[in-house]
Formats: sequence, structure tokens, C-alpha cells
Amino acid sequence: MPIVIALPKGRILDESGPLLAKAGIIPAPDYADESSRRLRFPTNIEGLDVVRVRAFDVATFVAFGAAEIGICGGDVLMEFDYPEVYAPLDLNIGHCRISVAEPRDDSGQTELNRQSNIRVASKYPAVAKKHFAAKGIQAEIVALNGSMELAPGLGLSRLIVDLVQTGNTLKANGLVETDIIAHVSTRLIVNRIALKTRPDEISYWIEKFREALLP
Ligand code: PRP
Repeated sequence: MPIVIALPKGRILDESGPLLAKAGIIPAPDYADESSRRLRFPTNIEGLDVVRVRAFDVATFVAFGAAEIGICGGDVLMEFDYPEVYAPLDLNIGHCRISVAEPRDDSGQTELNRQSNIRVASKYPAVAKKHFAAKGIQAEIVALNGSMELAPGLGLSRLIVDLVQTGNTLKANGLVETDIIAHVSTRLIVNRIALKTRPDEISYWIEKFREALLP
């Protein structure tokens, strides 16, 4: 049975290329070409394939054992919180934060001071719900898959919970960050059962990635 590594499409794909190479893994050339329709690629290592999936789905592929290993954003791990997923390595890429944001407002009052019942748009419904519940605030979460920066301006919700890296997207949409829920980065993840049933192979690759992180 081959080992399958799930890799996220999008911004992490570019950053994970050099890391894979340092770990000794060279996928077929069209893997980095997002216009290629192929989703599963052989590598230079026999019995090791990589698959390209949506960043949000990496943890799910690994949790269900469809992929033994994955490269996954800490935001996605927090949202799904799968017990089947073990995250042994911080890959030190994809640094960002999950934050609460609201429209820029000169009154100095934040939204939470004004309302006890609030609506929040987010692609992190579980994280958002937990965050507001911990503050004793009952939040109605509207789940979106992207572009939630539009929500306040269009009256969908006053608050959003989103991923912030440079802050440019918030700024461009007239929003300000009011609370940081968590700082996150990209992790190497493995399926816990695979680690038990194929300990030598999985540990070997965890070690290879650990070495790849060394200067
Ligand atoms: C994320 C996030 C913001 C943006 C923040 O989206 O949802 O839209 O990045 O980055 P910035 O602070 O550097 O502007 P992403 O590009 O991951 O894709 P998505 O819109 O498909 O969620």
C-alpha cells in the first residue's frame, strides 16, 4: 500500500515545495501547476504519492485515513479538532492568525459593547462559536467559504472571524481586527492509526520532515 501525503492547494502549495524537496520528495512536475486537472501524483520515491486537495480538506483526508500524512494549516486543525489526527511538527510556514474583525468605527466602541446578541460570518464556525461562548456571548454564526470581508458592508453580519496574514484584505475592505483568537502556522499531520499500524514508514517521514526544517 502506498503512503499518501495530502497537500493543500493555494498559498501553502508554493511554500511546501522546497520543504518536500529538502525531505527528498520530488512529485511529478505538473503537481505545482494548478491548471493541471490531475489530483494524485507519483513522486520520485516508489510507494509514495502526493494528492492535491483544498486546504480546508487536508485534515479530513488524513482523519479518515485516505491520506496517511498531510501538510495542514493550524486554522483547519482548530476548526475540525479531529482526534484521529496527530500534529507532530510545526513546519514554520504559513504564519497567520484567526481574528475577529469589524467595520472601522471612530466611536471607539467595539461591536461587543453595543450588542449582546450578535451575528458573525466565518469560514470557522466551530472556532467562532467557541470563542464567543467562552465570553458568554451568544453568537449566531453564518458559515461562508470565503470573501467574508464583504459581510459587514453588505449587512450580512457586523462581525467576521477570519484568517489574517498581512492584514491587507481587512484594510482593503474597511475592517479592523478587534481580537486575536489564535496564532497559527502550518503543521505536518499524520493519521494516528497509520502511525500505529505502519510505525516505521510514518516515523521515517516525520523524521525526514524534521530534518528538512533544520538550517
Ligand atoms: C485568507 C483569508 C483572507 C486573506 C487574509 O483567504 O480568508 O481573505 O487570506 O490574508 P491577508 O491578511 O494577507 O490579506 P485565502 O487567501 O486563504 O483564501 P480564501 O479566500 O479562499 O479563504
